[in-house]
Amino acid sequence: MYCLPSNRAASTRHPNEKIRRRFLCRSNGAGYWNPRLSAAGLARRAVGPVPDITARLLYSGIHASVRRTAPKTQNPLPRTDETLIAGGKLYLNDCVGCHGEPDKPPSDFGATFYPPAPQFPRVGTKYSEAEVLWVAKHGIRRTGMAAQGSTYSDSQLWSLAEFIGHLPNLPPHVAEGIQQNAAK
Ligand code: HEC
Repeated sequence: MYCLPSNRAASTRHPNEKIRRRFLCRSNGAGYWNPRLSAAGLARRAVGPVPDITARLLYSGIHASVRRTAPKTQNPLPRTDETLIAGGKLYLNDCVGCHGEPDKPPSDFGATFYPPAPQFPRVGTKYSEAEVLWVAKHGIRRTGMAAQGSTYSDSQLWSLAEFIGHLPNLPPHVAEGIQQNAAK
């Protein structure tokens, strides 16, 4: 619901007061009218994707459950470029199909899941490294995220977790290192 400012109201005055009010205050369809935004000249949000409340609730519910379950362990690996590059190489092998590749368009396949696979190179993750490790190892039940625990050692999973933690702001020389490594 929003109302036109009073100077515009004057020009649209209707002999019937009730009709004028109804005409001047109408629903904007997008849900709300924020006077502060309008005062700043930004007006209401343009028509865009409606926030998917269900997906957001699902995301925070799953994250809360992972947070409760995952051990709060510190990453034992050295915080070096080598660790990041090793993690990036594993990521390129096994995760990009759903989570998307750095500097490439988002994964269409990842979008086919519900909830969709987060595109780490664009949005990063709210999960801690220990939580990323736990998810990669055990998967998330009833979603497209499968357990990788039998494929990778803990050390490899930590390098993956560290790499994902550095997306979407990967240092350029690390990105290059991963590409060189991948080509070998
Ligand atoms: C077949 C598709 C697929 C592959 C391959 C895949 N994932 Fe996922 N992943 C998903 C989906 C779908 C979700 C979303 C699940 C959810 O939101 O509950 C997800 C969620 C996650 C999350 C939760 C983090 C967040 O912010 O939601 C982590 C961590 C994760 N994946 C790590 C990995 C890693 C590491 C790899 C590679 C070893 C990998 N995934 C490979 C589909 C995949």
